[in-house]
Amino acid sequence: MISQKIKELLESTTELSKALKASTQIIHQNLEFYDWVGFYFMNHKDQTLHLGPYTGATTDHTVIPFGKGICGQVATTGNSYIAADVNQESNYIACSIDVKSEIVVPMYFKGKLIGQIDIDSHKTKAFSAEDEYLLSEVCKLITSKFGTELEIYAQQLFNTN
Ligand code: SME
Repeated sequence: MISQKIKELLESTTELSKALKASTQIIHQNLEFYDWVGFYFMNHKDQTLHLGPYTGATTDHTVIPFGKGICGQVATTGNSYIAADVNQESNYIACSIDVKSEIVVPMYFKGKLIGQIDIDSHKTKAFSAEDEYLLSEVCKLITSKFGTELEIYAQQLFNTN
């Protein structure tokens, strides 16, 4: 259902930043326990992640060094990560005391790690392999529609935050 909604969105939206923002809104609205939904993009040169469009509470974490927090770990390993209980994580960056669990799924384009989708939940153990599958499908839909445009978009993002 979510994949279908994202497909329809991508068919009708030509502007990348609007498509990313609308994707976060669709995911946030349609999935229970998804309280914050956002994209980060990778700056390989500076080894930092940069926040792109998101839906949810404002976050201070607009730039995250590779290796720091759940997002930074995924930037380093290239593998999805599910934190069932963020309070049990030794390498976690807190955005809000309300957040209890988190999932981060990498976004690849032509085999290169270019970004990730990050979801926070106010519920512990909110995420499973099913969420991971769904979110990686969303990433694939986005990369197959926008391709290299994503890299250009990311470059602009690095210059602004
Ligand atoms: N909790 C993340 C930081 C990003 S916020 O969730 C938006 C982390 O540990 O990397």
